[in-house]
Parts: sequence; structure tokens; C-alpha cells
Amino acid sequence: MSKGLPQIKSDFFGKSIISLKQFDPESLEKLFTATSDFKAVSDKKSFREVLKGKVVTLLFYEPSSRTRASFDAAVKYLGGNTLVVENPQQFSSVVKGETFEDTLRVFETYSDAIVLRHPEKGASEKATKIVTSIPIINAGDGVGEHPTQALLDLFTIKEHAAKLSGLKGLLVGDLKNGRTVHSLLDGIGLYKNNEIYLLSPESLKLPEEYKSHAKEEGLKLHEIKTTDEIPNLCDFWYWTRVQKERLTNIDQYQKTHNQFILSAKLAGEKAGKNTIFMHPLPRVGEIETEVDRDPRAVYFRSQIQNGLYLRMAILTLLLNPQ
Ligand code: NCD
Repeated sequence: MSKGLPQIKSDFFGKSIISLKQFDPESLEKLFTATSDFKAVSDKKSFREVLKGKVVTLLFYEPSSRTRASFDAAVKYLGGNTLVVENPQQFSSVVKGETFEDTLRVFETYSDAIVLRHPEKGASEKATKIVTSIPIINAGDGVGEHPTQALLDLFTIKEHAAKLSGLKGLLVGDLKNGRTVHSLLDGIGLYKNNEIYLLSPESLKLPEEYKSHAKEEGLKLHEIKTTDEIPNLCDFWYWTRVQKERLTNIDQYQKTHNQFILSAKLAGEKAGKNTIFMHPLPRVGEIETEVDRDPRAVYFRSQIQNGLYLRMAILTLLLNPQ
């Protein structure tokens, strides 16, 4: 990441959100307080003035369910409107040969913020050089980052563990191509005494750049090879799918996607009573459906709920002077 991105330093107004590297613990605290405030109020109609008259573009060059829907719902609960542009490669002037730059300029004119998902790593940061008058929110840039997912994941961990330091966690799956784990590690690295176990197929290990940044931050990483090596009493298990669409050969997918499965048996043997089971979703078989009933499984519960409240909070802070 270039040094050009603004640090948040507890002042979100007008800033783009591209990477967890823009954050410090104080800024996260401010965001999490706003998130909790939204979560505490059951009548969402009471927020209709917050983004009244504002338009947010959701520009998604890659498929999405939760991220797009939760941003869309967040804007609407806050009284704003959305311009949803899904698959611009098929359904916009991009078909006629319009460039990324030109498409962005158009939506800069029509909206107050752009939420961007793009298959290329670095696309959101590049967008901030083209769009200078409104914030860009990175909703996933290829194999790079997915900051709002990591923010809601950190909020969820804090909600359950009541802390963000002194944690023991496990990350499993495609740690090479999974952007959510890249951002999550950067976030966890902002706090002290955290220890993370990494379990992935040999060919999908966490890339060196993320490992060295984590180490610089003082995060203790342990690469393990089998589920037998999962330590006792983790605060969270974070499972991810193998990113099939990012692999160049299908054989690699066949060999890796079933390698580590979160089964009821594994949960019974290795998880503590306070270990929460997380997944950014979609899951494609790597967590057995039987585990969904386990009260420790938060992926269809607080983790997705928090996605809405966190995104309400971030939009509020970005689009209103504090
Ligand atoms: C993730 C993504 O798009 O990176 N999904 C999401 O936004 N929650 C995870 C994935 O696709 O595996």
C-alpha cells in the first residue's frame, strides 16, 4: 500500500477507506462505539435523517451478496439513496469500452460516496487518485483487502471476547487469496499480545508481505499443518473458503477445497466453550451445516448482523462532519 492514504486519526469525515493500515486503536474505538449505538436502537426508523438527501453508489465489478446488500440496507436505513451498478462489464458503458477512470468520474458526479468492489488488487487505492471529491470505500480489491469485512469481524470478536488484545485466534483456509484475512490480520496487529495460528493448504499459505507486516506490528504468527495442532482455548476460529475464481488451475481447487473442514466433531474436540466460529461467507462446504446450530457459531448470527450496523456507522462518520 502506498503512503498516500490518509490516516483516520479518529476523524473519518470525507476520507476514503481502503485499508486497515489507515487505522489506529482510537479510531477503531470511535467506530465501534457508533456501531454499538446503532445496534442498541431497535427502531431503525429513527435514523432516517442521517443521510437524508445523500446518494451512495455501489459499484460492483465482482459478485457480492452480503457486502452489497448490507451497504444498500445501511444507506436506506439512514435515509439515503443508492445507485447500484452491478457487473458494469456487462450492464454499463464499460461494454462500449468505457475505461475504469471514466466510469468513476461519472459516479463521482452523481453521488456522495462510492463503494467499490473490483477484481484487481489496488483498484480502490487507484480510484482515490481519480475520484478526489468524495470518499471511496473498498468493498474488496481482488486478492488485496476487504476492510469493512475486517472491521465488522473485529467488532464481533470484541463483542464476544470483551477485548482485542491478548487474543488467541485461528485462521483457516485460503490465506493466500482471501482478502478478508489480510485485512483482519492488519487489524488484529494493532493490538498487543495477540497470537494467531494459520492453517492452510501448502499452496495457499499467507503471502510473505502480510506475514512480515504482522511481525512488524508485533503479532505472533504460528503456521500449523494439521487440525491436530490447533491450540486449546482460542477466542475465535475464522474459517474461509478456497477462492476458486482466483486459482489458475482447477486441479488445485480439487486438491485443496476439502482439506480443512469445520465439523461438529472437530468443534467438540478442539474448541473451547467460549471459542466463536466465524466465516465471512459464502461457505462452500468448509463448515458442516450441523455446526450452524452450535451457539458458538456466529457467522449467521452476530457476524452478519454486525455487518449492517458497522456499515451504518462508517457511512455516518464518513459523510457527516463530527
Ligand atoms: C468475502 C469476499 O468477497 O472477499 N465475502 C464477503 O464479502 N463477505 C469472502 C469470500 O468471497 O470468500
